Amino acid sequence: MAILVTGGAGYIGSAAVEDLRGKGETVVVLDNLVYGHRKAVDSSVAFYEGDIGDESLIQKILDEHTIEACMHFSAFAFVGESVEKPDIYYENNFVQTLKLLDVLIKNNVKKFIFSSTCATYGEPQYVPIDEKHPQFPTSPYGWSKFMVERALADYDTAYDLKFVALRYFNACGASGDCGEDHTPETHLIPLVLFAAQGKRDSIAIFGDDYPTPDGTAIRDYIHIADLSQAHLLALEHLRNDGKSEFINLGNGGGYSVKEVIEAARKITGRNIATKIAPRRAGDPSRLVADAKKAREVLGWNPQFPEIEKIIESAWNWHEAHPNGYE
Ligand SMILES: NC(=O)c1ccc[n+]([C@@H]2O[C@H](COP(=O)([O-])OP(=O)(O)OC[C@H]3O[C@@H](n4cnc5c(N)ncnc54)[C@H](O)[C@@H]3O)[C@@H](O)[C@H]2O)c1
Repeated sequence: MAILVTGGAGYIGSAAVEDLRGKGETVVVLDNLVYGHRKAVDSSVAFYEGDIGDESLIQKILDEHTIEACMHFSAFAFVGESVEKPDIYYENNFVQTLKLLDVLIKNNVKKFIFSSTCATYGEPQYVPIDEKHPQFPTSPYGWSKFMVERALADYDTAYDLKFVALRYFNACGASGDCGEDHTPETHLIPLVLFAAQGKRDSIAIFGDDYPTPDGTAIRDYIHIADLSQAHLLALEHLRNDGKSEFINLGNGGGYSVKEVIEAARKITGRNIATKIAPRRAGDPSRLVADAKKAREVLGWNPQFPEIEKIIESAWNWHEAHPNGYE
């Protein structure tokens, strides 16, 4: 039996592929390589290039492999772009996911692990955010993920699909040979490290007047190795006939933008110039997870909660891959 990993050539999916293989699992990757990298997946892994919404391709994969479960990482994930082009986000992230689910269910593949996001919560009404926090996303990206969550709950009722929807906070760090190579890059840690490498002059701090101790926004950073482990535990949960769950993945504390930059200066030993820019619309002051449920239900125990360890792994990867995967 094999695990189908969609988006397995992407940042987080490729780390999960490696960890699954490390556990002796057989893996099949499906990725259209719009954002992923063929080199992020070992050449020995069965690899299909194409869309998750291509029903005949999904059927072909299911005919050629005995698929037990699907880990569904593939999505477009640029929040700003989703505001400008909501159509492609709803089509790629929601409509195509329904097509994937249809074929899986028709073939009796009913274990599904979904990459959801803290963006499904929208503006926090309280922090830390637990799974009962109201969900009202502030972007089409967040809504596209929220709509998949709703569909999963209804597919469980109607078709007995069992799923774990993992709501990640801010994924970061590098795991083994897998690191962050997004184009365009929008995430803070790689951008800070690009500044340390001299690839950019400075790093913009969007707002230094938030109601936080140093005035900059606080986010919950979570190492991709810890995210990946949660997927393996979610798979075990479903194998043990666990019920469908929505589960946050974060560390609970959070670090401010200034703390991340300071840690990066320490790890890299480089000067990192900053400039203060206005707050960005819709950027809350604190986005931090209550991840108690992941510990209780999955037995999840993150190994890399400290920002220094996260940045160190990312820095080592960026230094070893100055041009990313290319
Ligand atoms: N990176 C984060 O901080 C973060 C936070 C919360 C949730 N997530 C979610 O985690 C998942 C993985 O994120 P990532 O950072 O690894 O992104 P990524 O862009 O590196 O990986 C996504 C992969 O999916 C592929 N893909 C996209 N649409 C596809 C389609 N229709 N068919 C086949 N392949 C397709 C892309 O080519 C890419 O390789 C996404 O679903 C994202 O929404 C990420």
